[in-house]
Amino acid sequence: MKVPFLDMWRMHGPLEEEFVTSFRKILGKNGFTKGDELSEFESNFAAWIGTDYCTGVGSGHDAIVLGLQACGLKKGQKVIAPAMTFISTITAIIQAGGEPVLVDVDSEGLIDLNKAEELIKSGIDFMVPVHLYGQIVNPKELIRLKEVYNIKIFEDCAQAHGAQRDGIRAGTVGDGAAFSFYPGKNLGALGDGGAFVTSNQDFNQKMIALREHGQTKKYYHKYIGSTSRLDNIQASFLNTKLRYMDEWNLHRINVAKSYSEQIHNDQIKLISNKLDGSHVYHLVIATSDNIDDLSMHLENNQIGFGRHYPIPIHHLECFKQFGWDKKSYPNAEYIAYNSISLPVFPGMSPTEVELVANAMNSFGLSQLRVAS
Ligand SMILES: Cc1ncc(COP(=O)(O)O)c(C=O)c1O
Repeated sequence: MKVPFLDMWRMHGPLEEEFVTSFRKILGKNGFTKGDELSEFESNFAAWIGTDYCTGVGSGHDAIVLGLQACGLKKGQKVIAPAMTFISTITAIIQAGGEPVLVDVDSEGLIDLNKAEELIKSGIDFMVPVHLYGQIVNPKELIRLKEVYNIKIFEDCAQAHGAQRDGIRAGTVGDGAAFSFYPGKNLGALGDGGAFVTSNQDFNQKMIALREHGQTKKYYHKYIGSTSRLDNIQASFLNTKLRYMDEWNLHRINVAKSYSEQIHNDQIKLISNKLDGSHVYHLVIATSDNIDDLSMHLENNQIGFGRHYPIPIHHLECFKQFGWDKKSYPNAEYIAYNSISLPVFPGMSPTEVELVANAMNSFGLSQLRVAS
């Protein structure tokens, strides 16, 4: 039996009728942008995250670019970001006008805040912590750094819908935060989408203008912005899916818990085992010194898997002009070249979890037998 890396139909199948009804309603009223569905989703999502405002945009990437500008990033300002993340975090900083300054991650893939603090002392304006894989970067520490050094914090929450620690939710820690609704995310649209959240009214007002060419009223353009709106059809789908988010996140956490109970293999390590709700398991990451053999073994056992992400930021060709030292971010490098992502999605069955665990546990056994 095959185990897919992700099967979105398990979430979408039962909601098909509701999606079709919403679509027909919007089609019938010819209202595709800036309608009730969008406003409803924006207030529901802000309430679920715990911010005063949410502004829907075209993608998570745009939510970072425009969000940083809305929060006051000025051309040439330095922005700290982790060396292990999806490329979008870094390209968005550059497109917003900032200069990315990389910091290594810890052994669980989160930005190393001790190293970040050393850099902040040398004069930094912004930090973009990434709540990678679904785990939240220590929010109390982020708040301390913000207060002590008077820097702005902009959270990349693209992978962390609903993650929280010490009663503080991802998206409420900084001056602003970006979420992605790419279909495979914990909360995914049926296409692209993203959102900026904040509790600062001025930042939100600027964001509303920036997503529509910087206009503060029709044809009065105060800023240079973009066309980046979350459309009503996607907002209506997201409204439906948002009702299930707590249940779906819990399912993901339970899958991760079963993996941690069932996978025992000296050649494999499950990183970031945090089953206390601070990690909503967008991805379950396993590392091994023999990642190519492990990948082949999983393929032979028909287990779907991913690589998030196989090349660290400082090794990507498009960033060569920054001259980042190839050896300065060893944890990012280790995770990038030695990790795989295991299947985890709402509706994944106990049998599927067991098949993945069995395959992980049998890795290396045949080689050991040959060797002995
Ligand atoms: C950490 C991170 N940042 C930013 C993004 C960008 O989001 P989007 O694909 O919606 O533009 C993603 C999405 O893949 C992501 O994982």
